[in-house]
Amino acid sequence: MPQVKVPVLITRSKIKKRVKQLAARLNRDYRLKHLVLIGVLKGSFVFMADLFRCLNIPAQCDFVSLSSYGSGTTSSGKIKMRHAIAHSIKNKDILIIEDIVDTGLTASYLKNSLKKHGARSVRLCTLLDKPSRRKKKVQLDYIGFKIPNCFVVGYGIDWNEHYRSLPYIGYIKT
Ligand code: IMP
Ligand code: MG
Repeated sequence: MPQVKVPVLITRSKIKKRVKQLAARLNRDYRLKHLVLIGVLKGSFVFMADLFRCLNIPAQCDFVSLSSYGSGTTSSGKIKMRHAIAHSIKNKDILIIEDIVDTGLTASYLKNSLKKHGARSVRLCTLLDKPSRRKKKVQLDYIGFKIPNCFVVGYGIDWNEHYRSLPYIGYIKT
């Protein structure tokens, strides 16, 4: 499918600046910790790659893949871990990296599940926060941008697997 023009919500330069600010906070907060970034596939991979390269502290990375059975554009709450983390997270300081927290169901499931695996701490960093559709209260420790209730794509985020390669965050009408 040819990449059609998608209206901009957050520009490339704003994202770049914000990622640097978040990384600066992480560099301070995790200076003496055992930081492991765990990216939620696939939407977080571009954000995570940029954030990871801005860190100047020792850090490891891993990924999880989740599947939720629901109506397509929203999660149902019935979430399953499709690809589990490869390494032990016992006594590690986990930072979950999300693209978007929408209903909060995914983030809340993942936080609880990683805590059960013996992590020393579990925090969450999301590029985008869509608070208007929240169903489950979940603490977001690091937030890139708060956005209104619209469907966004780009910078790793997809609509039916399209638009992930857009270098900015755009919005589409569904
Ligand atoms: P929730 O917080 O459990 O509802 O799930 C959030 C997940 O839904 C995100 O990680 C995205 O994969 C997906 N999602 C939510 N809103 C959007 C959007 O606007 N564009 C693309 N994916 C979205
Ligand atoms: Mg996601």
